[in-house]
Amino acid sequence: ASQLLIQQPLTCLSAFCLKDTGTKGRFSSPVLDVTEKQLIIERNQTLQLNCRGRWELQWVLPSGVPKVYHGTQIEETRCGKKNNQYCSRLMLSPALAQHTGSYRCRYRQKHRKQASVYVYITDSQRPFVKVQSEIPDVVYMKEGELLVFPCRVTNPDANVSLIKYPFHRIAPDYKNIIWNSRQGFTIRSPTFFYIGLFSCETIVNGVKYSNRFLTHRPVNKILDVYLNSTGLVHTLQGQMLALNCTVTAEWNARVSISWTYPQKANGSATIIRRISRSRTNMLFYSVLTINRLSKADRGLYKCHVTSGPSKRETNTTVIVYDQPFIQLKHRDGPVVQASAGQKSFRLTPKLKAFPAPEVIWLKDGMVAAEQCSRYHVDRFSLVILDVAEEDAGIYTILTGIQQYGLFQNLTLTLVVNVKPQIGEKTVSSRQPGTVQRGSRQALHCTSHGVPPPQIQWLWHRCPPKGFPLRL
Ligand SMILES: *[C@@H]1O[C@H](CO)[C@@H](O)[C@H](O)[C@H]1NC(C)=O
Ligand SMILES: *[C@@H]1O[C@H](CO)[C@@H](O)[C@H](O)[C@H]1NC(C)=O
Ligand SMILES: *[C@@H]1O[C@H](CO)[C@@H](O)[C@H](O)[C@H]1NC(C)=O
Ligand SMILES: *[C@@H]1O[C@H](CO)[C@@H](O)[C@H](O)[C@H]1NC(C)=O
Ligand SMILES: *[C@@H]1O[C@H](CO)[C@@H](O)[C@H](O)[C@H]1NC(C)=O
Ligand SMILES: *[C@@H]1O[C@H](CO)[C@@H](O)[C@H](O)[C@H]1NC(C)=O
Ligand SMILES: *[C@@H]1O[C@H](CO)[C@@H](O)[C@H](O)[C@H]1NC(C)=O
Repeated sequence: ASQLLIQQPLTCLSAFCLKDTGTKGRFSSPVLDVTEKQLIIERNQTLQLNCRGRWELQWVLPSGVPKVYHGTQIEETRCGKKNNQYCSRLMLSPALAQHTGSYRCRYRQKHRKQASVYVYITDSQRPFVKVQSEIPDVVYMKEGELLVFPCRVTNPDANVSLIKYPFHRIAPDYKNIIWNSRQGFTIRSPTFFYIGLFSCETIVNGVKYSNRFLTHRPVNKILDVYLNSTGLVHTLQGQMLALNCTVTAEWNARVSISWTYPQKANGSATIIRRISRSRTNMLFYSVLTINRLSKADRGLYKCHVTSGPSKRETNTTVIVYDQPFIQLKHRDGPVVQASAGQKSFRLTPKLKAFPAPEVIWLKDGMVAAEQCSRYHVDRFSLVILDVAEEDAGIYTILTGIQQYGLFQNLTLTLVVNVKPQIGEKTVSSRQPGTVQRGSRQALHCTSHGVPPPQIQWLWHRCPPKGFPLRL
């Protein structure tokens, strides 16, 4: 009962044949004998397509046509006035619903030069091109991409509905929801609503047919990884270490957190995991605990986070001290020097300690900060603002870690240098007076400075009359 639908001899009068002029520039692409963009034939009919071109031709058939199919026949001939063209005839018999799709004829050497026609092969018992097994097909949703339910149909006029299980019917609006018989349903901007089980449904002769799809949205966006102490962690042998790695990820994400740490091989740490979800995010915690630290536990601790292809990590370095300690030493010897008028001066001995000690600065046996508002303690240094001569003295730093009974003191001497100044200069200079020859005269010079200045007298010949005296 096979029937020929398109039976066009190669010597015809259609546009296909009119192109057969043999002149240069014609057939830059192959030409099909059908001018319509689509054909509709019934099941069991024969599909015949003719293609003509300047070079050797090749057919590309829909994926539903098996590569090796007894019903496919291709005849290739030379044609045209001077026999300088190539003709190819494709015959598919019987045509079946699953053969619905785009049929393309192209140049063997130039694939981009092609002609195509979309062929629907209607079958009232097979409205969907694909017949589904029991299991719904999985459709992956990706952020920023279209979502397509690929329920192509064998009849361009089929009335297909999209249903979200159990009974939400979604009508195409041709803005966000688009129906296309060659593609199925396309959702331009899929939202969370489109996560779940869907089906394309059509009723033919009172029989319901459906194609079901399960949408899956692989979520693996890690938003943030936070270790509650980054940088250096200073700690003592025998103490407990707890590090909390917190991962914020997109809702529905699956995240795995692992640690690398110095004593991992010994399994010295216990790791506790927790998951909590907020309205918008997922929070994953992994808390690594080492109950009694040993020296071997010092080193790098890394929290590795993976979610699908996404990876993140964060780290901290742990320093384990044997015991609490204070090391206090002079930085530049026991005597330091500053100059009067200096904007600020910092007394900083070398201090290493763990845990952090308390620090008190004394000046000449009294708490420095209480003596003068220009003194303040910055971390463990004493800062003196607007250095003055009176700041010279004996300074003592008292350090202590009360809880371990550790105390250390260090004393240093501050010398404040003062530029020499001549007291008489501040008194208004007198005009040179006249004194009696042979009389005794005492000239005074008072000077102050730190260290004490040396005084030297110089004598200048009297300037000629009329000139002021220069000192
Ligand atoms: C197509 O052919 C098959 C097998 O010969 C037959 O069972 C079927 O009814 C035919 N279908 C149509 C629509 O003619
Ligand atoms: C689809 O629905 C329209 C309007 O209800 C109807 O005219 C048409 O025949 C239907 N198509 C098919 C293939 O049933
Ligand atoms: C980090 O988190 C753990 C567990 O919550 C806690 O025991 C530890 O004190 C925290 N560390 C810091 C430096 O906050
Ligand atoms: C880990 O830290 C987070 C905050 O960063 C906190 O909410 C959570 O309770 C901590 N986990 C544990 C076990 O302490
Ligand atoms: C850990 O293992 C190393 C060698 O594998 C061993 O020398 C060390 O003593 C172990 N430490 C603990 C705390 O078990
Ligand atoms: C530790 O983390 C810092 C920044 O968080 C990074 O610059 C550094 O390379 C990391 N160190 C290692 C050894 O991974
Ligand atoms: C440090 O100084 C304080 C106060 O002057 C004194 O009581 C203490 O004994 C000193 N400690 C040491 C270790 O020198």
